[in-house]
Amino acid sequence: MIRKATDIFSEWASIGKDEGMQRNHWNAVKKMFQILNKDQSQSFSFIDAGCGNGWAVREMLKNPLCLYAMGVDGALGMIERAKKLDPNGNYVFKDLMEWEPKTLVDMVHSMEVIYYFNDPKKIISHMKDKWLKPNGKLIIGLDFYKENMDCHNWPKKLNTKMTLLSIKEWIQLLKNCGLEDVKSYQTNSSDSFEGTLVLYAKKLN
Ligand SMILES: C[S@@+](CC[C@H](N)C(=O)[O-])C[C@H]1O[C@@H](n2cnc3c(N)ncnc32)[C@H](O)[C@@H]1O
Repeated sequence: MIRKATDIFSEWASIGKDEGMQRNHWNAVKKMFQILNKDQSQSFSFIDAGCGNGWAVREMLKNPLCLYAMGVDGALGMIERAKKLDPNGNYVFKDLMEWEPKTLVDMVHSMEVIYYFNDPKKIISHMKDKWLKPNGKLIIGLDFYKENMDCHNWPKKLNTKMTLLSIKEWIQLLKNCGLEDVKSYQTNSSDSFEGTLVLYAKKLN
C-alpha cells in the first residue's frame, strides 16, 4: 500500500536519518537563506514548512535580524527530535494544510517538502493567504523535478506519492497562486547532480 510521506519521515527520525537530510540539504538551504536575506535590512519572522528536526529554524535564528522562527512538520518523530535538540524552540506537529500561524510572518521557507502534496497549488496558496504578511517572501527548494532525471524513481523507491513538475510548470504554478516577482535558480549543480531547484516569490498584498 502507498504510504503517507509523514509516516515515512517519522520512521526516518527514529533511526537518525533526519541528520543525513540536514547534511545533504544544508548547502542548498544556505543559498536559499542568502536569497531571502539579500536586501533584508529590517528584523523579520520566519516559518520553516516541513521542518524535519528543525535544523533550518536554528540556523536562521543565528541571524540577529531574525526575531522569531518556528518549524511545522506532520511527522511526530521529527517534531519530537526537534524539541529534544532545542527544548525552548518553537516546533509544531501539524499537517501544513491544516495549520495556520496566529500571526502572519515575513518569510516562509520549505526544503524538499512541497512535492509530497498532490495539489501543490493548494498548499502554496494556503501559505500565501494564511501564513505570509503582505510583502512577505516565499522560498522553496526541490530536488524532485522533471529535469532531474535521477529522481524520477523516488516515488517507487519510497513507496509514496510525489508530484513531478518541470521548472517551467513550477514557475507557472507560483504565478497562478497570485505570487509576484517569481524567480528560479538551480543550485549545487555538478556533473552528477542537476542541482536543487530553488523557487523564490513575493506576496505583494
Ligand atoms: C525530505 S523531508 C525534509 C525535512 C527538512 N525540510 C530538511 O531539509 O531536513 C520532508 C519533510 O516534510 C514533511 N511533510 C511531508 N508532508 C507533510 C505534510 N502534509 N504536512 C507536514 N509536513 C509534511 C515530512 O514529515 C518531512 O519531515
